[in-house]
Amino acid sequence: MNAPDDRYILNRDSAEYQRLRSQSQLWEDVTRQLLQQAGVRPGLRCLDVGCGPGEVMRMLGELVGPGGSVTGMDVDGPLGRKTAQQLGADGGAEFHFHEANVEQAEDVPGAPFDVTYARLLLFHVGDPVAVLRKLWRWTRPGGVLVVQDYDLATWESWPPLPAVAEIRRVFTAVAESAGRDIRTGFKLPWLLGQAGIGAPDGMDMAGRQVTLAEAVWQNKAVYDGVFPRAQQLGLADPAERQRLFDELDSAAQAGGCYTFTMPLMFGAWKRRAA
Ligand SMILES: C[S@@+](CC[C@H](N)C(=O)[O-])C[C@H]1O[C@@H](n2cnc3c(N)ncnc32)[C@H](O)[C@@H]1O
Repeated sequence: MNAPDDRYILNRDSAEYQRLRSQSQLWEDVTRQLLQQAGVRPGLRCLDVGCGPGEVMRMLGELVGPGGSVTGMDVDGPLGRKTAQQLGADGGAEFHFHEANVEQAEDVPGAPFDVTYARLLLFHVGDPVAVLRKLWRWTRPGGVLVVQDYDLATWESWPPLPAVAEIRRVFTAVAESAGRDIRTGFKLPWLLGQAGIGAPDGMDMAGRQVTLAEAVWQNKAVYDGVFPRAQQLGLADPAERQRLFDELDSAAQAGGCYTFTMPLMFGAWKRRAA
């Protein structure tokens, strides 16, 4: 369940956490490469804001090793605490978790960090520019800020499947009803400029095509992730959900050759003057 004052559009349940973990696998190489280009190396102290189920915390932990540390920050306290505990039990880097809403937090224990990182967070906040300013402030002089976010404009299939188009339409409507911009990733360099941080030192844009089976799974999981919000807005109901899922299942059973594109993942990093 979402907390009452929480404008997060996705569910907070085990199915949604599993979707986030599965999505992370698709972007594992892209994120690792960006972090390495940005200079993440053994011994550094990192902050991952909007850490969710902690797949990037795990990766940061591998990169910084036993002499380094990773602090996760998320408004979802139960998930973050469990994640940090599990990662800590695996050994290697030191792991911490700080429960906070980044839009309200003024400080975070351990700041400033060598590396401040956020993936798929800026899309979910009301004022991404204000959040970027905070992330910059929590980065030490000589440290680096790294952000990644989606541009959902490329979420589609060929040949077109009406269910995919409808799921994208519903997701977009739910996002926009909460004031979210589905092109946040595309706008990252401009957002950094608006925050007074300046043009990125490094940028990246990555795409992923997925199989029919993966696309069916991802589309169903995303739809379920926003289903309660969509229902509140009168954009979805259980019968419509069943109809869309049946259409996806029929496509999967029939097989065939499709192009399915995920949203594009944009990345940018900037080093603070020492
Ligand atoms: C789409 S998930 C991404 C999780 C993770 N960064 C990843 O890439 O797999 C967004 C995460 O940001 C968190 N979040 C959203 N709004 C937040 C806020 N205002 N303050 C802190 N965390 C927030 C959510 O709880 C969720 O865990």
